[in-house]
Parts: sequence; C-alpha cells; structure tokens
Amino acid sequence: MIAFNKPMFFVFCMITSVALVTLPVLPQARSASSKSAAAGDGQKPNSAAHPSAHSSAQSDKLSPGVHFLSYAQASAVIQSFADELPAELKGRSAAELEKFWPQYVREHDGETRGRLEQGEEDSLNNLVLFGTSFTSQPRLSAEFIEQQEKAQGSRGQGEKETGAAAGVPQENSDAVVRVFVGRMNDFIRALKAPGKNERLLYMRHFLERRGYLAAGPQQQQLRQYLLANFQRTRQEFDKYQQVLAAARKSGDPRNEFAARSTLFQTRGVSLDTSLMPNFALEQALGQLLEKGLLAKASVRKVAIIGPGLDFVDKQEGYDFYPQQTIQPFLVMDSLFRLGLAQPSDLRMTTLDISARVNDHIAQARARARNQQSYVMQLPLESPLPNNARWSPAALAYWKAAGMAIGNSVAPLAPPREAGPLQLRAVKIAPQNVLRITPVDLDVVYQNLELAPGQRFDLVIATNMFTYYGQFEQALAMANLENMIRPGGFLLTNNGLPENVPVALQQAGFSTTPYSDRPSDGDHIIWYRRAASDKQ
Ligand SMILES: C[S@@+](CC[C@H](N)C(=O)[O-])C[C@H]1O[C@@H](n2cnc3c(N)ncnc32)[C@H](O)[C@@H]1O
Repeated sequence: MIAFNKPMFFVFCMITSVALVTLPVLPQARSASSKSAAAGDGQKPNSAAHPSAHSSAQSDKLSPGVHFLSYAQASAVIQSFADELPAELKGRSAAELEKFWPQYVREHDGETRGRLEQGEEDSLNNLVLFGTSFTSQPRLSAEFIEQQEKAQGSRGQGEKETGAAAGVPQENSDAVVRVFVGRMNDFIRALKAPGKNERLLYMRHFLERRGYLAAGPQQQQLRQYLLANFQRTRQEFDKYQQVLAAARKSGDPRNEFAARSTLFQTRGVSLDTSLMPNFALEQALGQLLEKGLLAKASVRKVAIIGPGLDFVDKQEGYDFYPQQTIQPFLVMDSLFRLGLAQPSDLRMTTLDISARVNDHIAQARARARNQQSYVMQLPLESPLPNNARWSPAALAYWKAAGMAIGNSVAPLAPPREAGPLQLRAVKIAPQNVLRITPVDLDVVYQNLELAPGQRFDLVIATNMFTYYGQFEQALAMANLENMIRPGGFLLTNNGLPENVPVALQQAGFSTTPYSDRPSDGDHIIWYRRAASDKQ
C-alpha cells in the first residue's frame, strides 16, 4: 500500500538532492562502529533475479588492459580485514583463500553489475516523480509538497493513502496524491507513443524486458509495479534516515560521515549526477595547487571513476534536454582554468561499470571525430525555495563552468513545470571530447594495468564509493594504488577506511558549502599515493 507522509516524503526528496555530508566533519575512522553504522540489513540486491545481471562468464570479456584484482594484490587487504571478512571468505586458510579468490572476484563483479538494474528502477521512479517531458503535472518536489500541505492546512492524519492503492476516489484524496496518480497515468500513456523521447524509449524497453508492456491485464500490473517501486524507494530512504540519525546521535561527526560514506552499500547502483560536486572538486584542486601539492601543468593523465549520466535526478537533473555526462568535462574545465593541466597533453579515462555511461561517451567521441561538438546544459535551480541562497562562490562557479573547454551557446528552453531555473549551455570543442576514453572497469574488483609512466596523476570518484562497504572500498584502494603514480592524488567525497595496507594515504581535505541550506555542501578527501613506488 502506498502512503504519503509529508515529513518522510520531504526527507526523501532532500536526502537525494542535497550533498551527502553534514558540515563540518572529519574523514572517517575505520572501526566496528562505522561498519555497523552502514545502511541496510546486509542483504545484497538479488542480482540473479534481474535479466541484465552479468554472469562471471560475461565479466571475463574484459577491455584491453583490464584485469581482475589478483589474490597477490588483494592479500594484504584481506589479512587486515581478517575479523570483518564477508562470510564467504571467513574461516578459510590462506591456501584456500588463494584458490577461491578468482571465483570470488568474478562472482562479486557480476553481482555489482547486476545492481545497475535496480538503479534503473530508481531512475524510473525519478522520471515518474520529476519528469516534465511527458506530463504537464507539477514535479513532485519537496517544495511542491510543502506548498500543498500549507495550502490545505495540516489534516493531522500523518499518512494519506493514494487513490489508486487504497481505492479512495481521486477527487477525495489530496493534491499531492492526485498529482502522483496523474503523473503515473501520463507516463503510462506516453510509453505507448514515446516518439523520440530517449528517456521514455529507454524505460519502455526496460519495462518490456520485464513483461509489463504486453497488452491486457499487464496494464494494471504496470501500475502496481510503479506504485511498489515508489514504495520501495521511499522505504529505502526512510531506512537511510534512520541510519544517519543513529550515527548523529553518537555526537561524533566522523560517525555520520562514515555512515554516509557507505550509506548505499546495499542499494541499486544509480547513474545520477549533478553540477555542484564538480565545484567542490575545483576548490579542492585549487587548494592542492596553493599548497604546492600539485604543480602547474603537472596533471596529464586523469581518471574519472563513475562519471554518471544525467537522466532525471530529483531536483537537480531534468528531462528537457538530451541525456548528458558532465563530470569529465567539468573536471577538465577546472584543470585548464587553474593551469594544472595543459590542453597540449591532457588525457582523460573514464572508468565505469555502466554500459549506458560507457556507450554515451563512446558515441560522443564518434561524433567528435566528425567534428561535432558536445553541448552540455547547465540548469541551476534559482531562486532556491524557502529564500535559501547559493553561496556567491557556487554561483560564480556555475557562471564560469565550461568556459575553459568551450563556448556559451543558447540553452534549451525548459517547460514551465521544470520550475524556476537559470540556464546556461556550453558547446564543447571536439578536440576536448576526444581527450576522453571510456573503459569498462569495476574499480572494486578490477584494475587497469599501466606501465609506471602511464599511471594517473589524478583520479576522481564522487558519489561512487558510497555504494560499497569498507572491505570493498579497501579492495578498490588496492586496485587504485597500482593505477596512480607515486605522489598522485585520488579525490573523493566519501571517506575510505583507515589503516588499509595500501600506499594511498589521506593528505588532507577541503570543505565546500554550496548554499545556506543546512548540510548543503561536500567534503573532498585528498588521498595521496606514497611518493616512493614500492614496485
Ligand atoms: C551516482 S553516480 C555518480 C556520478 C558522478 N560521479 C557524480 O558525482 O555526479 C555513480 C557512478 O559510479 C559508477 N559506478 C558504481 N560502482 C562502480 C564501480 N565499482 N566501478 C566503476 N564505476 C562504478 C556508476 O555506474 C555511476 O556512473
């Protein structure tokens, strides 16, 4: 049964739209408490139930240079986690572990890739709640719900059932419920004639694969599925709130940061992406330059782990423009603007498990080879609800974003339903698109074999490690230590476990508020590869 509960629904919107840290905090400690603060009941999503879940055989078709993490590379991490190992590894002798390891990494890589399918269900839910390309209903944003509640006055009942789920006639249910049901109906109608709407086409294919679009009684099943999907995401976010509240209760901000850093470890893997983490990265890079930790023109090889794809993301992503990836371009832009990289020799590699992300970048490259530019839309919600304000530095970042790699062009016009937006768009020169090479790689279980002179000067990973527990994060660190050059940096907005026996050590962190809304900002933790190469 579906029920809207205002505080819960409000939280649902906020937790997914504001940055995932409370300010100020310190990097996380590795401890039993941080581990137990992690989200969820320990159950992994059932990847086998999903048609797109990868089998280990599929995972063995690796991109050139990509290898599974070997037991030799992982053994120090495994030993250091002796008391906290996953059940499948616990209690095995070293010889047994070594024998079992190749099977373990392949199976878990397949399981991780299977989590993308559940992430697609989250995107489907976001499209129904926030999309404007198939409906003229308002977006079900936190502020819309708040306004409606104020207008109607609190009825003091807490939960209100949706008409569809509870059999309440629509005219008797409140405005929020009516909008949800209206959106769902419009979405189902639009699926029948999606035209060139790429998001609807994608979701039609997704729902077809699951058997929801056949004629007849499936129509009702689709409605039930969409409602259940909404209910599931709502319950998940409720659970995340409880985890964060429990961590906050301890009074130690590090516990909350630790909880946030593994918060989505049992959730489906989403592709969503937004502008502001790239502002935090630019500030972090500026500080590394100021402190002499990175020199001008010293960044030549960059990796972006999990660049993501803007499909329709809660309050900060919209569906009135083509799907886009923004992080690789915005990081490149910052590196040029700060003088850390030179256009003559910057190479960027994106590392992602998502075929959608990898294909999107490969197609952008193919177009760039034909001299076609890449246009990036940069909408900014403005003014912010409830008289909140962007920080002057965040606004200045938005105004300048992309100008070191392209030119301003006329942005696409949003529909009225998209709400108050300031708009910019940037046309990125083909030679800058061609700097980027996508590689299919699962950074937890795989690495890219690189000769010492080819290793990355800088690796970026925002809103990616939070999908993993501490053991998986430590395995990723073992992979990364061989991919980053001595003295090179990994910048991430998630705290990684401490005391992991790899040559990546925390070298500092920066804090960037985005607006005067509570908790709206990011910490970027700077991990540095030890200056001497142990190989
Ligand atoms: C929520 S998006 C973050 C996008 C972007 N970094 C940002 O902060 O806006 C997570 C991204 O990480 C990717 N990802 C998740 N797990 C990964 C893994 N083990 N290896 C490589 N990429 C991964 C997802 O496919 C997706 O592109």
